[in-house]
Amino acid sequence: MPVTVSSVLSSLSCLAAIVPAVSAGFAFPDCVSGPLANNSVCDDSLDPLTRAKALVSVLTIQEKINNTGSTSPGVPRLGLPAYTWWQEALHGVASSPGVNFSAKGDYSYATSFPQPVLMGAAFDDELIKAVATVISTEARAFNNDGRAGLDFWTPNINPFRDPRWGRGQETPGEDPFHLSSYVRALIDGLQGGYDPKYKRVVATCKHFVGYDMESWNGNIRYQFDAQINMQDMVEYYMPPFKSCARDSNVGAFMCSYNAVNGVPTCADPWLLDDVLRKHWGWTNEEQWVTSDCDAIQNVFLPHEWASTREEAAALSLIAGTDINCGTYYQNHLPAAYSQGLINESTVDQALIRQYSSLIRLGYFDPAEKQPYRQLNFSHVNTPEAQKLAYQAAVEGIVLLKNDGGLLPLDLRNNKSIALIGDWANATTQMQGNYFGQPPYLRSPLHAAQQLTTVYYATGPGGQGDPTTDHWLPVWDAAAKADIIIYVGGIDNSVESEGMDRHAVAWTGAQLDVIGQLAQYGKPMAVVQMGGGQIDSSPIKHNANISALLWAGYPGQDGGTAIFDILTGRAAPAGRLPITQYPADFVAQVPMTDMTLRPGPNSPGRTYKWYNGTAVYPFGYGLHYANFSVSFGPGDGPLVAAASKNKTKNTDASDNNNKGTGVVHIADLIAACNSSSSSAVSHIENCPALNLPVTIRNTGTNTSSSSASDYVALLFLTGTFGPAPHPARSLVAYTRAHNIAPGDTQTVRLPITLGGLARVDERGNTILYPGAYSLVMLDEEQKEVLAKTEFKLVGSEAVLDRWPQPTASRTPRHKGTGEVGEGYFIGGFGSGSSGMVKQGAR
Ligand SMILES: *[C@@H]1O[C@H](CO)[C@@H](O)[C@H](O)[C@H]1NC(C)=O
Ligand SMILES: *[C@@H]1O[C@H](CO)[C@@H](O)[C@H](O)[C@H]1NC(C)=O
Ligand SMILES: *[C@@H]1O[C@H](CO)[C@@H](O)[C@H](O)[C@H]1NC(C)=O
Ligand SMILES: *[C@@H]1O[C@H](CO)[C@@H](O)[C@H](O)[C@H]1NC(C)=O
Ligand SMILES: *[C@@H]1O[C@H](CO)[C@@H](O)[C@H](O)[C@H]1NC(C)=O
Ligand SMILES: *[C@@H]1O[C@H](CO)[C@@H](O)[C@H](O)[C@H]1NC(C)=O
Ligand SMILES: *[C@@H]1O[C@H](CO)[C@@H](O)[C@H](O)[C@H]1NC(C)=O
Ligand SMILES: *[C@@H]1O[C@H](CO)[C@@H](O)[C@H](O)[C@H]1NC(C)=O
Ligand SMILES: *[C@@H]1O[C@H](CO)[C@@H](O)[C@H](O)[C@H]1NC(C)=O
Ligand SMILES: *[C@@H]1O[C@H](CO)[C@@H](O)[C@H](O)[C@H]1NC(C)=O
Ligand SMILES: *[C@@H]1O[C@H](CO)[C@@H](O)[C@H](O)[C@H]1NC(C)=O
Ligand SMILES: *[C@@H]1O[C@H](CO)[C@@H](O)[C@H](O)[C@H]1NC(C)=O
Repeated sequence: MPVTVSSVLSSLSCLAAIVPAVSAGFAFPDCVSGPLANNSVCDDSLDPLTRAKALVSVLTIQEKINNTGSTSPGVPRLGLPAYTWWQEALHGVASSPGVNFSAKGDYSYATSFPQPVLMGAAFDDELIKAVATVISTEARAFNNDGRAGLDFWTPNINPFRDPRWGRGQETPGEDPFHLSSYVRALIDGLQGGYDPKYKRVVATCKHFVGYDMESWNGNIRYQFDAQINMQDMVEYYMPPFKSCARDSNVGAFMCSYNAVNGVPTCADPWLLDDVLRKHWGWTNEEQWVTSDCDAIQNVFLPHEWASTREEAAALSLIAGTDINCGTYYQNHLPAAYSQGLINESTVDQALIRQYSSLIRLGYFDPAEKQPYRQLNFSHVNTPEAQKLAYQAAVEGIVLLKNDGGLLPLDLRNNKSIALIGDWANATTQMQGNYFGQPPYLRSPLHAAQQLTTVYYATGPGGQGDPTTDHWLPVWDAAAKADIIIYVGGIDNSVESEGMDRHAVAWTGAQLDVIGQLAQYGKPMAVVQMGGGQIDSSPIKHNANISALLWAGYPGQDGGTAIFDILTGRAAPAGRLPITQYPADFVAQVPMTDMTLRPGPNSPGRTYKWYNGTAVYPFGYGLHYANFSVSFGPGDGPLVAAASKNKTKNTDASDNNNKGTGVVHIADLIAACNSSSSSAVSHIENCPALNLPVTIRNTGTNTSSSSASDYVALLFLTGTFGPAPHPARSLVAYTRAHNIAPGDTQTVRLPITLGGLARVDERGNTILYPGAYSLVMLDEEQKEVLAKTEFKLVGSEAVLDRWPQPTASRTPRHKGTGEVGEGYFIGGFGSGSSGMVKQGAR
């Protein structure tokens, strides 16, 4: 340690003796009679940036550096309170460093919604906004009681690329368009609009970028160097983050543990400045980037991107990481400063971003002027919130098999149920990970017991249990009951943070038990639980098992939701938001291979590119009702441009494959430019076509049919743009609610200009000439139910020119002098992707 730094630190510890250090709980600055009262930061007539600058201008460099960590001590001399930046709220206010649930009574619980992967299956953006609004309301109530901060490190919006990913459960699924649309609705609800005077809370889009592996085959997230080509980068990994930054004005970002193409993301000025801030215009100065927890330390070891600890901290701060989750900045920036590796204006910039953000949250403003400061525990766990948690589970659950019409279950005549499996009496299991204290957890067993006689048996005994010790009660239960229901699958004992799966098959023990249960020849259903999919072919193909449901992690009322669907009190209409791959997928491609398209070492990934046969494809989901769908005549710039071609001006959105419109690309762009879309933030967001879809419940009003939701998924197909071409691409979706037998509902699907574009090898987003089809498929994703086609002619048009990395992406190879070269090696599969070989050591 240089002398200057230790003398600074010792003079600081004198101060610490007189003022309290970080205090428990949260307080607001005293802008009435505190030392800051006359600082402009307390003047609520000024803009946040001016106010933040005024505050930062009166801090010393040591005070500034002290406040660059996730646990900020504040500035006692100025009455600036301590603050914790790290709160979690993945599917409800969650236990985390900044969230303090009380042991009992008020604030001892908050609403616990399903895991995002199940909410993704609802394909209902209005539901997501409503859920996020409840979460931010409850978060504010906790904040008002000093039990939480205002910054929440949610959502996890990395696409669920590989079924083995332990944290895929935290995401809405595998499709980048779906995630982009979902996250926009989520941010609207969490932050209280896209440009509010006061944000409800600040959301944090994480993990930027290319993070979707925990620990696989010797490859660990802290050192993994994801090799991602620019085409996959822009087409697959970036869209949810673009939606957060460019289109939804999210308050914060988190950079990830991994490196991308050689550079740790938290130290990458190309990612954090060229792409995030400059290209996406995320420059309000009210927005900050935090590192994932201790990712700055990882820049030093194991990434070995910097040669000293001070340099790791300096390079990260300069790259644009404003807050360090952890203590590395607070620890090492003082020396980095005295060594001249950083200057005060870079520290100021980080602090100004942080405090502008708190100003936008009303932190320095009078409570009586702010609606959110009036919220209290009476706004937590309201009857509406309880209903919404139940509804979110019901909407997400996916019916995968229903042969012979076993479902909805007929429990009349006192039919009894054998409820069997390690999820049968699930409670906290239903919450997955990143959860808080729920008001209640209603298990499947609890729900079943409200309906009829239940014979319950746990077993076979967890994911890794090789013994048959717990199996005998299973046969007892099965023998006594009229109906057998097995609830099992996977849970956080095999998929979780820090833990990827190695298999995507059911365990042998579970299939053994399920197979023996099927031999009873009784009516039987299986409920598959867990966030990642498991290959359910043995269940799909067993003729004695009539029904299969996927129920993910359904949250506080999950058991009720499952049984309401099983018994027909609620109608299933969820769709798989991820591909269910066959078990041998894990032997075909290493998890470390980030490419999406098929290649010599990969069958391809996601419904767009996987060239094997999925067990159940993305978008799959059966109903109890039958539906027909048809397209109406569309409108929008595409239709306006089509009518310009006098030689053949058929309607561009002509119904069901009857006609073909021809549209000149230049006309389409001009129509987009001149349409009322000046409000859209980017030409990609131009609503090119507005397509009405009429959905009819063709059932008759008898006891065997019921009102049902219907999810409309619209896919684009065609061979335009660079080869190879995806099988299909989701470009619009919505959920129609509660369509009664014999009734019809018309929904409108907006297709943006960006939705029609493809991405070239340099990452440019381009509208190409070619033949385009928009299709809706049946519930098994096999047959085309409705189709409309059009042609784009003329020359291609670039909608978005992607910024190329300019800085050197090759590893700095400085080593640290403390560990030798080659100490941190990638695990098996880290170099086998057929891509550029892992650059690092
Ligand atoms: C910096 O933080 C440390 C540890 O919380 C504390 O002891 C010290 O007084 C702080 N220094 C200043 C200048 O706020
Ligand atoms: C949690 O809140 C209670 C009540 O305000 C407080 O007494 C306690 O110190 C807090 N705990 C923490 C860890 O902040
Ligand atoms: C703020 O300024 C006013 C007028 O100059 C003065 O009366 C007041 O004492 C100051 N308050 C504080 C907290 O410094
Ligand atoms: C401070 O450092 C940044 C990043 O290295 C640099 O861009 C900036 O010009 C420096 N500012 C001053 C005032 O030296
Ligand atoms: C909570 O807020 C409501 C108004 O929304 C108010 O009626 C009630 O008195 C408040 N409860 C407490 C304990 O302050
Ligand atoms: C329903 O069946 C159970 C045993 O399966 C029996 O104990 C109960 O009395 C029956 N109830 C009625 C109403 O028949
Ligand atoms: C089901 O789980 C709850 C909560 O853990 C427990 O209280 C109850 O005893 C369990 N029921 C049975 C039958 O094991
Ligand atoms: C199906 O059930 C019948 C009894 O009804 C049994 O004989 C047969 O073996 C079962 N088949 C399977 C695949 O379990
Ligand atoms: C999938 O793509 C790979 C690479 O192009 C190819 O080797 C393989 O034969 C394809 N498999 C199928 C089933 O088409
Ligand atoms: C009109 O459509 C025809 C194909 O039907 C196409 O060849 C021609 O280029 C189009 N003209 C313009 C101006 O778009
Ligand atoms: C459409 O607007 C964009 C952005 O304003 C502009 O760059 C482009 O030249 C315009 N294109 C046409 C055909 O008017
Ligand atoms: C749906 O259609 C199938 C096949 O035509 C028919 O067997 C079934 O009864 C229908 N279901 C309803 C609820 O109308």
